[in-house]
Amino acid sequence: ASKTIKLNTGAEMPTVGLGTWKSQPGAVEKAVEHAIKFGYKHIDTATAYSNEAEVGQGIKASGAPRESLFITTKLNNIDHRDPQAALDYSLKQLGVGYLDLWLMHWPAPMTKDWKADKEHDWLDTWKAMEEVYKSNPDKVKAIGVSNFSIQYLERLLPEAKVVPAINQVELHPSCPQEELVAYCISKGISVTAYSPLGSDNSPLLKNPVVNKIATAHGVSPANILISLQANRPHVSVLPKSVTPKRVEENFTIVDLSEEEIAELHKIDETHHFRACNPEWAGHGHLGFPDRIG
Ligand code: A2P
Repeated sequence: ASKTIKLNTGAEMPTVGLGTWKSQPGAVEKAVEHAIKFGYKHIDTATAYSNEAEVGQGIKASGAPRESLFITTKLNNIDHRDPQAALDYSLKQLGVGYLDLWLMHWPAPMTKDWKADKEHDWLDTWKAMEEVYKSNPDKVKAIGVSNFSIQYLERLLPEAKVVPAINQVELHPSCPQEELVAYCISKGISVTAYSPLGSDNSPLLKNPVVNKIATAHGVSPANILISLQANRPHVSVLPKSVTPKRVEENFTIVDLSEEEIAELHKIDETHHFRACNPEWAGHGHLGFPDRIG
Protein backbone atom coordinates (compact mmCIF):
# COMPACT_ATOMS: atom_id res chain seq x y z
CA ALA A 1 0.00 0.00 0.00
CA SER A 2 1.36 3.43 -0.90
CA LYS A 3 1.79 6.16 1.69
CA THR A 4 0.05 8.77 -0.46
CA ILE A 5 -2.38 8.85 -3.35
CA LYS A 6 -2.06 11.41 -6.13
CA LEU A 7 -5.08 13.59 -6.73
CA ASN A 8 -6.12 14.95 -10.14
CA THR A 9 -4.77 18.34 -8.97
CA GLY A 10 -1.29 16.81 -8.68
CA ALA A 11 -1.38 17.03 -4.88
CA GLU A 12 -0.45 14.02 -2.74
CA MET A 13 -3.01 12.93 -0.14
CA PRO A 14 -1.66 10.80 2.73
CA THR A 15 -3.36 7.40 2.40
CA VAL A 16 -4.32 7.02 6.06
CA GLY A 17 -6.09 9.93 7.73
CA LEU A 18 -7.81 10.38 11.07
CA GLY A 19 -11.61 10.35 10.83
CA THR A 20 -13.49 12.51 13.35
CA TRP A 21 -17.18 11.77 12.76
CA LYS A 22 -18.84 11.40 16.19
CA SER A 23 -15.61 12.43 17.92
CA GLN A 24 -16.86 14.68 20.69
CA PRO A 25 -15.41 18.09 21.52
CA GLY A 26 -12.96 17.50 24.33
CA ALA A 27 -11.94 14.04 23.17
CA VAL A 28 -11.30 15.01 19.57
CA GLU A 29 -8.78 17.73 20.34
CA LYS A 30 -6.57 15.23 22.19
CA ALA A 31 -7.06 12.57 19.50
CA VAL A 32 -5.98 14.95 16.73
CA GLU A 33 -2.97 16.17 18.69
CA HIS A 34 -1.96 12.61 19.53
CA ALA A 35 -2.44 11.40 15.95
CA ILE A 36 -0.30 14.16 14.46
CA LYS A 37 2.44 13.70 17.06
CA PHE A 38 2.35 9.98 16.25
CA GLY A 39 2.80 10.58 12.52
CA TYR A 40 -0.63 11.15 10.94
CA LYS A 41 -0.54 13.94 8.39
CA HIS A 42 -4.14 13.76 7.20
CA ILE A 43 -7.11 14.92 9.28
CA ASP A 44 -10.72 14.80 8.11
CA THR A 45 -13.59 16.74 9.64
CA ALA A 46 -16.85 18.42 8.59
CA THR A 47 -18.95 21.37 9.67
CA ALA A 48 -21.75 18.87 10.34
CA TYR A 49 -19.60 17.10 12.96
CA SER A 50 -19.69 20.26 15.13
CA ASN A 51 -16.06 19.74 16.07
CA GLU A 52 -14.06 21.87 13.62
CA ALA A 53 -12.91 24.25 16.37
CA GLU A 54 -11.64 21.40 18.56
CA VAL A 55 -10.00 19.68 15.61
CA GLY A 56 -8.28 23.00 14.92
CA GLN A 57 -7.10 23.21 18.54
CA GLY A 58 -5.65 19.72 18.26
CA ILE A 59 -3.82 20.68 15.08
CA LYS A 60 -2.41 23.75 16.79
CA ALA A 61 -1.42 21.82 19.91
CA SER A 62 0.50 19.30 17.79
CA GLY A 63 2.89 22.05 16.76
CA ALA A 64 3.12 20.59 13.24
CA PRO A 65 3.70 23.12 10.47
CA ARG A 66 0.52 23.70 8.45
CA GLU A 67 2.23 22.74 5.16
CA SER A 68 3.10 19.29 6.55
CA LEU A 69 -0.60 18.45 6.99
CA PHE A 70 -3.51 17.57 4.71
CA ILE A 71 -6.76 18.95 6.12
CA THR A 72 -10.24 18.22 4.75
CA THR A 73 -13.59 19.63 5.78
CA LYS A 74 -17.05 19.54 4.20
CA LEU A 75 -19.82 21.90 3.20
CA ASN A 76 -22.84 21.29 5.42
CA ASN A 77 -26.26 20.43 3.95
CA ILE A 78 -27.72 23.65 5.36
CA ASP A 79 -25.02 25.80 3.71
CA HIS A 80 -25.58 24.95 0.04
CA ARG A 81 -26.89 28.41 -0.73
CA ASP A 82 -23.74 30.21 0.43
CA PRO A 83 -20.60 28.09 0.01
CA GLN A 84 -18.22 31.07 0.29
CA ALA A 85 -19.54 31.97 3.75
CA ALA A 86 -19.40 28.31 4.77
CA LEU A 87 -15.78 28.01 3.66
CA ASP A 88 -14.79 31.13 5.57
CA TYR A 89 -16.60 29.83 8.66
CA SER A 90 -14.78 26.47 8.45
CA LEU A 91 -11.39 28.15 8.07
CA LYS A 92 -12.11 30.34 11.09
CA GLN A 93 -13.29 27.40 13.20
CA LEU A 94 -10.25 25.32 12.25
CA GLY A 95 -7.89 28.26 12.71
CA VAL A 96 -6.10 27.56 9.43
CA GLY A 97 -5.52 29.72 6.39
CA TYR A 98 -6.42 27.09 3.82
CA LEU A 99 -7.95 23.67 3.27
CA ASP A 100 -6.25 20.93 1.27
CA LEU A 101 -9.65 19.58 0.33
CA TRP A 102 -13.20 20.85 0.61
CA LEU A 103 -16.07 18.45 -0.08
CA MET A 104 -19.80 18.77 -0.65
CA HIS A 105 -20.83 16.59 2.28
CA TRP A 106 -24.05 15.23 0.72
CA PRO A 107 -25.90 16.10 -2.50
CA ALA A 108 -28.77 17.16 -0.26
CA PRO A 109 -29.43 20.88 0.14
CA MET A 110 -31.40 21.63 3.30
CA THR A 111 -33.01 24.66 4.86
CA LYS A 112 -31.64 26.02 8.14
CA ASP A 113 -34.23 23.93 10.01
CA TRP A 114 -32.98 20.74 8.35
CA LYS A 115 -35.81 20.16 5.88
CA ALA A 116 -35.12 19.24 2.24
CA ASP A 117 -34.55 22.49 0.32
CA LYS A 118 -36.41 21.53 -2.82
CA GLU A 119 -35.94 24.95 -4.42
CA HIS A 120 -32.17 24.52 -4.52
CA ASP A 121 -30.31 22.16 -6.85
CA TRP A 122 -27.09 20.57 -5.55
CA LEU A 123 -25.65 20.93 -9.06
CA ASP A 124 -25.79 24.71 -8.57
CA THR A 125 -23.97 24.19 -5.27
CA TRP A 126 -21.17 22.43 -7.15
CA LYS A 127 -20.98 25.29 -9.64
CA ALA A 128 -20.76 27.75 -6.76
CA MET A 129 -18.04 25.65 -5.10
CA GLU A 130 -16.10 25.72 -8.39
CA GLU A 131 -16.32 29.51 -8.39
CA VAL A 132 -15.17 29.74 -4.77
CA TYR A 133 -12.28 27.39 -5.57
CA LYS A 134 -11.22 29.37 -8.64
CA SER A 135 -11.43 32.74 -6.95
CA ASN A 136 -9.80 31.62 -3.64
CA PRO A 137 -6.76 29.53 -4.66
CA ASP A 138 -5.11 30.64 -1.43
CA LYS A 139 -7.96 29.23 0.69
CA VAL A 140 -8.81 25.91 -0.96
CA LYS A 141 -6.41 23.59 -2.81
CA ALA A 142 -8.90 21.01 -4.10
CA ILE A 143 -12.65 20.40 -4.18
CA GLY A 144 -14.62 17.20 -4.23
CA VAL A 145 -17.80 15.44 -3.19
CA SER A 146 -18.98 12.91 -0.63
CA ASN A 147 -21.75 10.31 -0.61
CA PHE A 148 -22.14 10.48 -4.39
CA SER A 149 -23.36 7.33 -6.16
CA ILE A 150 -22.67 6.71 -9.87
CA GLN A 151 -26.07 8.16 -10.70
CA TYR A 152 -25.19 11.45 -9.06
CA LEU A 153 -21.73 11.58 -10.66
CA GLU A 154 -23.28 10.97 -14.07
CA ARG A 155 -25.37 14.06 -13.59
CA LEU A 156 -22.46 16.09 -12.22
CA LEU A 157 -19.62 15.30 -14.60
CA PRO A 158 -21.06 16.60 -17.91
CA GLU A 159 -21.73 19.94 -16.17
CA ALA A 160 -18.55 20.17 -14.11
CA LYS A 161 -15.72 22.51 -15.02
CA VAL A 162 -13.67 20.98 -12.22
CA VAL A 163 -13.64 17.19 -11.92
CA PRO A 164 -13.98 16.38 -8.19
CA ALA A 165 -10.60 15.38 -6.74
CA ILE A 166 -12.27 12.95 -4.32
CA ASN A 167 -15.55 11.17 -3.71
CA GLN A 168 -15.63 10.23 -0.01
CA VAL A 169 -17.95 7.29 0.64
CA GLU A 170 -18.57 4.45 3.08
CA LEU A 171 -16.29 1.50 2.24
CA HIS A 172 -15.66 -1.69 4.20
CA PRO A 173 -16.05 -5.42 3.48
CA SER A 174 -19.83 -5.28 3.91
CA CYS A 175 -19.96 -2.30 1.57
CA PRO A 176 -17.08 -2.60 -0.93
CA GLN A 177 -18.83 -0.57 -3.66
CA GLU A 178 -16.44 -1.97 -6.27
CA GLU A 179 -18.43 -0.60 -9.21
CA LEU A 180 -18.52 2.90 -7.74
CA VAL A 181 -14.78 2.87 -6.95
CA ALA A 182 -13.93 1.67 -10.49
CA TYR A 183 -16.23 4.31 -12.00
CA CYS A 184 -14.62 7.11 -9.97
CA ILE A 185 -11.11 6.03 -10.91
CA SER A 186 -12.07 5.82 -14.61
CA LYS A 187 -13.11 9.48 -14.36
CA GLY A 188 -9.96 10.64 -12.56
CA ILE A 189 -11.69 10.88 -9.19
CA SER A 190 -9.85 9.30 -6.26
CA VAL A 191 -11.90 7.77 -3.46
CA THR A 192 -11.71 8.13 0.31
CA ALA A 193 -13.17 5.40 2.50
CA TYR A 194 -15.06 6.43 5.61
CA SER A 195 -16.21 3.98 8.30
CA PRO A 196 -13.57 1.45 7.19
CA LEU A 197 -14.21 -0.58 10.36
CA GLY A 198 -17.97 -0.47 9.83
CA SER A 199 -18.42 2.34 12.40
CA ASP A 200 -19.40 1.84 16.06
CA ASN A 201 -19.88 -1.71 17.44
CA SER A 202 -18.99 -3.15 14.07
CA PRO A 203 -19.59 -6.87 13.57
CA LEU A 204 -16.66 -6.84 11.13
CA LEU A 205 -14.13 -6.76 13.98
CA LYS A 206 -15.46 -10.19 15.04
CA ASN A 207 -15.83 -11.57 11.52
CA PRO A 208 -14.02 -14.94 11.16
CA VAL A 209 -12.52 -14.12 7.74
CA VAL A 210 -11.16 -10.80 9.02
CA ASN A 211 -9.77 -12.51 12.13
CA LYS A 212 -8.17 -15.34 10.16
CA ILE A 213 -6.32 -12.85 7.92
CA ALA A 214 -5.37 -10.73 10.94
CA THR A 215 -3.81 -13.76 12.65
CA ALA A 216 -1.91 -14.65 9.47
CA HIS A 217 -0.37 -11.17 9.39
CA GLY A 218 0.12 -10.89 13.14
CA VAL A 219 -1.98 -7.73 13.36
CA SER A 220 -5.43 -6.79 14.70
CA PRO A 221 -8.73 -7.13 12.81
CA ALA A 222 -8.88 -3.30 12.62
CA ASN A 223 -5.51 -3.28 10.85
CA ILE A 224 -6.85 -5.66 8.21
CA LEU A 225 -10.00 -3.60 7.62
CA ILE A 226 -8.00 -0.39 7.27
CA SER A 227 -5.36 -2.09 5.11
CA LEU A 228 -8.07 -3.45 2.81
CA GLN A 229 -8.94 0.10 1.76
CA ALA A 230 -5.34 1.34 1.78
CA ASN A 231 -4.41 -1.52 -0.57
CA ARG A 232 -6.94 -0.39 -3.20
CA PRO A 233 -5.32 1.81 -5.84
CA HIS A 234 -6.38 5.48 -5.69
CA VAL A 235 -8.16 4.92 -2.37
CA SER A 236 -7.36 6.63 0.94
CA VAL A 237 -8.92 5.67 4.27
CA LEU A 238 -10.16 7.43 7.41
CA PRO A 239 -10.28 5.23 10.52
CA LYS A 240 -11.96 7.14 13.34
CA SER A 241 -10.84 6.78 16.93
CA VAL A 242 -10.56 8.96 20.00
CA THR A 243 -8.64 6.25 21.88
CA PRO A 244 -4.88 6.98 21.79
CA LYS A 245 -3.83 3.30 21.61
CA ARG A 246 -6.23 2.66 18.73
CA VAL A 247 -5.15 5.82 16.92
CA GLU A 248 -1.62 4.37 17.03
CA GLU A 249 -2.69 0.84 16.09
CA ASN A 250 -4.72 2.06 13.11
CA PHE A 251 -1.70 3.69 11.48
CA THR A 252 -0.11 0.31 10.64
CA ILE A 253 -0.86 -0.91 7.12
CA VAL A 254 -0.01 -4.39 5.87
CA ASP A 255 0.18 -5.62 2.27
CA LEU A 256 -2.69 -7.96 1.48
CA SER A 257 -2.63 -10.50 -1.35
CA GLU A 258 -5.18 -10.38 -4.16
CA GLU A 259 -6.74 -13.54 -2.75
CA GLU A 260 -7.11 -11.96 0.69
CA ILE A 261 -8.69 -8.83 -0.80
CA ALA A 262 -11.15 -10.95 -2.80
CA GLU A 263 -11.97 -13.02 0.28
CA LEU A 264 -12.62 -9.88 2.34
CA HIS A 265 -14.84 -8.36 -0.34
CA LYS A 266 -16.84 -11.61 -0.42
CA ILE A 267 -18.10 -10.84 3.10
CA ASP A 268 -20.43 -8.46 1.28
CA GLU A 269 -22.39 -11.42 -0.09
CA THR A 270 -23.80 -12.27 3.33
CA HIS A 271 -23.38 -9.28 5.64
CA HIS A 272 -24.77 -5.91 4.60
CA PHE A 273 -25.27 -2.97 6.90
CA ARG A 274 -25.37 0.82 6.83
CA ALA A 275 -25.10 2.26 3.32
CA CYS A 276 -25.08 -1.16 1.70
CA ASN A 277 -28.04 -2.56 3.62
CA PRO A 278 -30.60 -3.85 1.08
CA GLU A 279 -33.32 -2.24 3.22
CA TRP A 280 -31.95 1.05 1.95
CA ALA A 281 -32.13 -0.14 -1.65
CA GLY A 282 -35.23 1.88 -2.47
CA HIS A 283 -33.37 4.94 -1.25
CA GLY A 284 -30.32 4.35 -3.39
CA HIS A 285 -26.91 4.46 -1.80
CA LEU A 286 -27.61 7.84 -0.36
CA GLY A 287 -30.91 7.83 1.39
CA PHE A 288 -32.00 10.88 -0.62
CA PRO A 289 -34.22 9.31 -3.30
CA ASP A 290 -35.66 12.52 -4.64
CA ARG A 291 -32.49 14.55 -4.80
CA ILE A 292 -30.87 13.22 -7.97
CA GLY A 293 -32.08 16.01 -10.16
P1 A2P B 1 -13.24 4.88 19.60
O1 A2P B 1 -13.27 6.15 18.80
O2 A2P B 1 -14.02 5.01 20.88
O3 A2P B 1 -11.84 4.39 19.83
P2 A2P B 1 -14.99 3.67 11.72
O4 A2P B 1 -13.62 4.23 11.50
O5 A2P B 1 -15.33 2.52 10.83
O6 A2P B 1 -16.06 4.73 11.69
O7 A2P B 1 -15.03 3.03 13.19
C1 A2P B 1 -14.97 3.84 14.32
C2 A2P B 1 -15.38 3.02 15.54
O8 A2P B 1 -14.45 1.95 15.75
C3 A2P B 1 -15.38 3.82 16.80
O9 A2P B 1 -16.40 3.31 17.64
C4 A2P B 1 -14.00 3.55 17.39
O10 A2P B 1 -14.03 3.71 18.80
C5 A2P B 1 -13.78 2.11 17.01
N1 A2P B 1 -12.36 1.79 16.75
C6 A2P B 1 -11.43 2.57 16.17
N2 A2P B 1 -10.25 1.93 16.07
C7 A2P B 1 -10.42 0.71 16.63
C8 A2P B 1 -9.57 -0.41 16.83
N3 A2P B 1 -8.29 -0.39 16.46
N4 A2P B 1 -10.11 -1.51 17.42
C9 A2P B 1 -11.40 -1.54 17.81
N5 A2P B 1 -12.25 -0.52 17.64
C10 A2P B 1 -11.78 0.60 17.05
